[in-house]
Amino acid sequence: MEKITIKDIIKMKGKEKISAITAYDYPSALIADEAKFDIILVGDSAAMVIHGLKDTLGIGMEEMIMHTRAVSRAVKRALIVGDMPFLSYQTSERDAIENAGKFLKAGADAVKLEGGKEIAHIVKRLVDLGIPVMGHIGMNPQKYLSYGGFKLQGRDKENLLEDAKALEDAGVFSIVLEKVPYESARYVTENLSVPTIGIGAGPYTDGQILVFHDVLGLSLYKFKFVRRYLEGFSLFKEALERFREDIKSGNFPNLEESYE
Ligand code: KIV
Repeated sequence: MEKITIKDIIKMKGKEKISAITAYDYPSALIADEAKFDIILVGDSAAMVIHGLKDTLGIGMEEMIMHTRAVSRAVKRALIVGDMPFLSYQTSERDAIENAGKFLKAGADAVKLEGGKEIAHIVKRLVDLGIPVMGHIGMNPQKYLSYGGFKLQGRDKENLLEDAKALEDAGVFSIVLEKVPYESARYVTENLSVPTIGIGAGPYTDGQILVFHDVLGLSLYKFKFVRRYLEGFSLFKEALERFREDIKSGNFPNLEESYE
């Protein structure tokens, strides 16, 4: 099984849709890799779906590196992207380099940073040093307080394209477009040479990404743009209820599950 590289992702533009999903630990990464996703993102959404926080601002480098290490132990094929958490790159180029380096040392193949023109100089510095970067524009969850909530962004497609172009010029290998109107996403996708990967950005991007727990119905969030492929929460709960009942009734364990 050949490992996917950033060059493979770039070449997929216009030829094959890029499939991406988040993962945060060994089992989720193993499942996603065996399901043959092209990209596995160790997203800072871990803050919400793993750690139960109300937003992504509270997760730090220590937790993100721990998640990245676990994911990288499982993945053989997918490109692993580590999501740089709030204030791990915005503060200075030096912080960005040090922290991006920690992701690569933990097993990531690339890092993702939220932001457009305002962080293009940081992206360029990382790329010049040989650190592959994925961009992320539109609704940036790390800026949700300034939007007044996780609100649709990118209605001004020229402005969105300006951000995308600044990142492309800085050397990103792909750009996530989050929660933007599909016409803006189409416009940006058609005017860029690097692939776009949408989440809540409609069908015209070069690829799609969703959060693992949203796809499998394990998170409590319900977004318009999510398609659930499993009602994981109720299935897990029913199984655990049966286990608990078997303990209570003495039905578990039986002698075959015991040592003589
Ligand atoms: O953290 C995350 O899961 C993300 C995706 C939503 C793109 O950034």
